[in-house]
Amino acid sequence: MGLLRRILGNETLDFDFLPSPRLYMGAGRLQRLGDYLESRGIRRIALITGGASYSQSDYREGFEGGLSESGVSFLRFAVSGEPAPDKVDSIRDEVQNSDVQAVVGLGGGSVIDTAKAVSTMLRHEGSVRDYLEGVGERRLSGSRYPLVAVPTTAGTGSEATSNAVISEVGEGGYKKSLRHPGLVPDLAILDPELTRGCPAELSSAAGMDALTQLLEAYVSKNSNPMSDLLAEEGLKRAGRALPVVVRNPDDLRTRTEMAYAAYLSGLVLGTAGLGLVHGATSPIGAARHIPHGVVCGRLLPAATGASIRALERQGAEGAGFLVKYRRAAEILGREKGGSLKTLVDLFSHWVEEFEIPGLEAYGFSEEELAVIAQKSSLKESPAKLSSEEIYEVLLESL
Ligand SMILES: [Fe+2]
Repeated sequence: MGLLRRILGNETLDFDFLPSPRLYMGAGRLQRLGDYLESRGIRRIALITGGASYSQSDYREGFEGGLSESGVSFLRFAVSGEPAPDKVDSIRDEVQNSDVQAVVGLGGGSVIDTAKAVSTMLRHEGSVRDYLEGVGERRLSGSRYPLVAVPTTAGTGSEATSNAVISEVGEGGYKKSLRHPGLVPDLAILDPELTRGCPAELSSAAGMDALTQLLEAYVSKNSNPMSDLLAEEGLKRAGRALPVVVRNPDDLRTRTEMAYAAYLSGLVLGTAGLGLVHGATSPIGAARHIPHGVVCGRLLPAATGASIRALERQGAEGAGFLVKYRRAAEILGREKGGSLKTLVDLFSHWVEEFEIPGLEAYGFSEEELAVIAQKSSLKESPAKLSSEEIYEVLLESL
């Protein structure tokens, strides 16, 4: 009933919302980083970046020149692939023995997650493993080094979230979070100039991640009026920007819009939570190296269809959530009376148009997916799906 009341605008306001970073948004904003650090008395930073994506970028020279003009020097760490615990620990150890005063992550979601974990572990004893949800027993205090996040892809929204995903891939592998409101960066810089060189297949996968996060948070059991407001804004922006970003990577206005949508997805997932797609990305990503955004995009149509069918079965309990799915269809399809079928069709259309590969392309088999279905969770999804239905969703995504 609470949800239907909210839709009517007469619910009781009763919710928490996590902190958000200070935000610099717009083309050229990266150049303000030097001033920001200087004004805080920060003279040396640990700069965590991607590998070739940073060293071969158009912005590198100007950025490093700007830092040096502000009197800020850096110790750079290039990371590739998902952040592994050993990598985080070794960067932390090196930084600890230096005169570094702050951590800046400039790169994709994995780079920013590494920066978040390093800044936190600089104030904690032991290995990052000891603090991971479901892996270690130790608790984070919330203390960390000053932290700035500068995403170069528009996807995970990690620059706005309170967790960092740490992965150990392969046999016995896991993808688990380091989580505390203290992990939310002090400053996020969304400068679309940095995403300009991002290749189409990366832009589309990252964009599908942001879109999935917005939708899952929007229809979550834990959503609240504020997260709804931000999720609707994010869905509107993502629906408009995503196809254009893939077709026309140099359109800076659209790049900005997509970066904004991804940031909003990070803001809302922290309080509202996620759903089935993200409940399956963890066991899938722990089993094999596969881009997170590819899994999101590939699972989204089947997961949305199955969730809608389950909510229809759930009668009055599902009704409010179906209203939200319809609203999402309206926002994304930009037409009045968007139907539930058009929502699933739109997602399938994008998967096809963006040429997002199936799970089979990464070596997954039907047997392996049966095991993964058992390990998947529904997270905060209101749709009650059985593990057979989850398996069906995974098979459709093969
Ligand atoms: Fe995600």
